[in-house]
Amino acid sequence: MPIKQHPVFTSFHEVQHPLLQHKLTLLRKCDTDKKEFNELVGEISTLLVYEVTKDLPLTNESVQTPLEKCEMPFLAGKKPVILAILRAGLGMVGGFLNLMPSARVAHIGLYRDESTLEPHLYYFKVPSHSKDRQFYICDPMLATGGTAVCAIDKLKASGVRKITFVCILAAPEGVEKVFSAHPDVPLFAVKLDRKLNKKGYILPGLGDAGDRMFGTK
Ligand code: URA
Repeated sequence: MPIKQHPVFTSFHEVQHPLLQHKLTLLRKCDTDKKEFNELVGEISTLLVYEVTKDLPLTNESVQTPLEKCEMPFLAGKKPVILAILRAGLGMVGGFLNLMPSARVAHIGLYRDESTLEPHLYYFKVPSHSKDRQFYICDPMLATGGTAVCAIDKLKASGVRKITFVCILAAPEGVEKVFSAHPDVPLFAVKLDRKLNKKGYILPGLGDAGDRMFGTK
């Protein structure tokens, strides 16, 4: 799958597979209805998970085939964790689980203080032994980057060391913010869009992902 690393924000990668680009275009269209929108988010997430898990470590274990006993690779270590940033991150969980059905699912809730515009944590639930697990933070839109930085801060403060951030669309402002705060955290998106508008929406973007996913507009 073609992957493009950003020349400056080197933790950022665009996953440019033609199927992903096609599905993203459908997702952007304003006449894509709620059902199709959710199906597309799921399909895109499944295609992304294939790419973002390519470095998971393997270990050999003994297997008995119908013909003989042999040493073959299995995923090593504790089950990875899919961390959904509430609420739009929920839409990506099913797509991840398609390829990693035994991954654990964690949740983080952050709201933005309307006066300071700073994100505040209101919910955080992760599995036991999180320090030893690979976390995949899911949020379809990396916009200002405030929520992403806060989620990564919280995971690191809890002792988590292996973190990857996965989104569908990213804005340059958000990528810069996350790269500046956490250059060690790989960021993956289908597309780096042009910029944010004054209200913090990504342009050209796809609108409010949560509203389109849950039909709340
Ligand atoms: N969140 C969204 O859902 N859409 C944007 O464009 C930016 C943030």
